[in-house]
Amino acid sequence: MHKIAMLGTGLIGRFYTMSLTHYRGKDQIVVVCASKPESAASFAKEFNIPRSTSDMAEAIQDPEVDTVIVALPNYLHKKAVLLAAEAGKAVLCTKPLALNGPEALEMLEAVEKAGVFHGYLEDLMYTPKTLSALHSTQQGALGKVLWARSRETHSGPHSDWFWNKKLSGGGAIVDMGCHCIEIARSFIGKENRPLEVTCWADTQVHPIDAEDHAVGLVKYDNGAIGQFEVSWNFRGGMDLRDEISGTEGTVWLNHWLRTGYELFTNVGQGGYVAEKAEGDKGWMFPVGDEIGALGYVEMFMDMFNAMDEGRAPMETFYDGYIVNTIIDACYKAADSKKWEPIEIQTWRGEEKSNTEGAALKSYDAEHYLIKEERMPNGNQKIILKHKESGEIKQIINE
Ligand SMILES: NC(=O)c1ccc[n+]([C@@H]2O[C@H](COP(=O)([O-])OP(=O)(O)OC[C@H]3O[C@@H](n4cnc5c(N)ncnc54)[C@H](O)[C@@H]3O)[C@@H](O)[C@H]2O)c1
Repeated sequence: MHKIAMLGTGLIGRFYTMSLTHYRGKDQIVVVCASKPESAASFAKEFNIPRSTSDMAEAIQDPEVDTVIVALPNYLHKKAVLLAAEAGKAVLCTKPLALNGPEALEMLEAVEKAGVFHGYLEDLMYTPKTLSALHSTQQGALGKVLWARSRETHSGPHSDWFWNKKLSGGGAIVDMGCHCIEIARSFIGKENRPLEVTCWADTQVHPIDAEDHAVGLVKYDNGAIGQFEVSWNFRGGMDLRDEISGTEGTVWLNHWLRTGYELFTNVGQGGYVAEKAEGDKGWMFPVGDEIGALGYVEMFMDMFNAMDEGRAPMETFYDGYIVNTIIDACYKAADSKKWEPIEIQTWRGEEKSNTEGAALKSYDAEHYLIKEERMPNGNQKIILKHKESGEIKQIINE
């Protein structure tokens, strides 16, 4: 049983608390922290948490606490993590790990030096659908993953600080690209080094300094490509979709919009429908089990089980650090309009000197197979390339 300090009672602090109190059931939040003492106190009352405070150091240093959960605005992650490391407490931090790569590296080094357990709360890697699809991919069902595409779009975040670049570290890329980048990276294989990125980013709608829409490509040293699509300008709810394409198979994942049940109401139900739903009348798409669908339940199971079993969780601060370095390169590329290298100070995956070539499949001793297809007239076409001459020809089996 773990005794937890929950830092933050906003959207994510609430989802985290619901996941911990309703599901794993073994652990207890003993202190909660919010910027206003009255918000912390009313949250503590709602979830039966014994103590509340507006002082994050007090919550972290609470003698009963062994685990700190950071659910604070991005600019406060580093301060909270350094305090937790100093206090020798396990620390779980929401996404993005940090405002940028150098800050993430400082946090990674601090937890490793202190020897405390660290987990990166990347919930979208833990949705039941993602876990199952990742397992199939890791078992080889897709062959070699060539292209992993991930999208998160909605009509924009729900608190002022997200829209202030100094406090958030950026716009839609840092807020949502962090999810998409880690999803693509996980399907491509974390052992493969991300090399360089190119990125388009613009401020299309909102009066802010940061980007509210971006598309980026992340090139890996095994030849695979990760693609992210993020927007704060998308209307109609929250769209969370992934597509993974490999030499032998494909995965399509759809996590949110229109994946639950459908409800029509002429009068509205009053109140909340689903995260980032717009309006509460007409046809609506409530999700049902939101915290399950978004991966929070499986994520905390892995985090606390890992802690109890003395192993690392699936998502660590190192993963958060790699994601931050990719995001930094995206911002450079969006400015330069060129491919920009990803600056990783401490690469822990595989080293490859060259990108791998095309995935070649032999048809017989002399030929590679390019393509087989059954035509509308019933004929089978086999398209081959001669291994030495390079000649391309087709065989038609009637
Ligand atoms: N899917 C996800 O994993 C997901 C979803 C949403 C948000 N987040 C992340 O969670 C973090 C918080 O986002 P949110 O949506 O909950 O924001 P929010 O604005 O809804 O809540 C922020 C919380 O932090 C508290 N806070 C702010 N300053 C504080 C201070 N100085 N001391 C103590 N408490 C303070 C506020 O009182 C509030 O409870 C961000 O890093 C965000 O990126 C993750």
